[in-house]
Amino acid sequence: MKQKVLVTGGTGYIGSHTIIDLLENGFEVVCVDNGINSDTYALSAIQKITGVEVPYYHIDLCDLEALSIIFKEHNDISGIIHFAALKAVGESVEKPLLYFKNNLESLINILTLSIQNHIKGFIFSSSCTVYGDVSQSPVDENTPIQEAASPYGRTKQMGEKIISDSLKHTTVNSILLRYFNPAGAHSSGILGELPINPPQNLVPVITETAIGKRDTMTVFGTDYPTRDGSCIRDYIHVEDLAHAHTLSLKFIFDGHQTQPVEVFNVGIGNGLTVLEIIHAFEKQTGVKLNYQLGPRRPGDVTAIYSDYTKAKHLLGWSPQHDVDDIMRSAWKWEQFRNEHL
Ligand SMILES: NC(=O)c1ccc[n+]([C@@H]2O[C@H](COP(=O)([O-])OP(=O)(O)OC[C@H]3O[C@@H](n4cnc5c(N)ncnc54)[C@H](O)[C@@H]3O)[C@@H](O)[C@H]2O)c1
Repeated sequence: MKQKVLVTGGTGYIGSHTIIDLLENGFEVVCVDNGINSDTYALSAIQKITGVEVPYYHIDLCDLEALSIIFKEHNDISGIIHFAALKAVGESVEKPLLYFKNNLESLINILTLSIQNHIKGFIFSSSCTVYGDVSQSPVDENTPIQEAASPYGRTKQMGEKIISDSLKHTTVNSILLRYFNPAGAHSSGILGELPINPPQNLVPVITETAIGKRDTMTVFGTDYPTRDGSCIRDYIHVEDLAHAHTLSLKFIFDGHQTQPVEVFNVGIGNGLTVLEIIHAFEKQTGVKLNYQLGPRRPGDVTAIYSDYTKAKHLLGWSPQHDVDDIMRSAWKWEQFRNEHL
């Protein structure tokens, strides 16, 4: 029998790609989202790609009573992947309480129901922002956690602690995946990042500038101590990231997890500068980008990229896509979006 997985935030960017990966690997999926940063377009794309109509609940995870209905209607859920959260770093600085309320209350509610319903595996979307302003890279899972640079980052640090403390004496096993910089889109070209709030991440800003939705874009900081003066990040293809979730659930379901909570970095282990990303885009697409060089932006760390040895050894995960795949798929998606959505 297929194992059933509840995906929260499932109509969002990473959630929708993960649903496809789960379906392609023999899982059954139920999706919940309140549409605060996505709409149900993703569900129709998922159906086109996989042929599966995923049951969908339009529910705010902060509403415990409404959320519990899903578990009444699906009493055979064995895994949860919890993506639902607000994720804009800048907005979290302006509205910290909104971020604490939404991201922590929704986590507490879904954890409460996970414990009550004897869920086997709980996967949490954490982030490399938990490492804070690191002085050197690559970072592995034992790199000391620094002060969070934003309330958003703090919700991830607190989220990790809430999960560890709450699951210590339960039968729920959890994996915390610390994502580096997810980018790119599904290879079909009909699914990618489609946020309601304007995207702030580099790759969608590049594709929106290239297609003419933005007149120009700015490279924030050219005096960092890096190869070309711009910041270094670890860009991971969203399809590779999605697969890490499937492997994490399998790891738990197959009985390989030996402690209640495990942490894994998910990045490709290779740092690229902002200017290198821009040039990779131009090379892959033949489109010249209109960009300008600007001052540093508060809160940006100089360089951070991952050591993913632990995920490789324990989960059997390794990235299958490089930066060129990221650029090609992101551009294909931007063009589709521009024409059809
Ligand atoms: N994209 C990144 O760069 C990145 C990096 C590290 C970690 N993450 C984390 O990964 C997760 C998914 O990110 P994403 O890029 O897919 O973002 P996203 O905004 O596309 O998806 C998040 C989804 O959660 C939903 N949501 C938010 N609050 C909710 C609530 N209270 N109830 C129900 N649904 C709610 C939103 O509508 C959205 O569809 C988030 O937890 C994010 O913090 C993202």
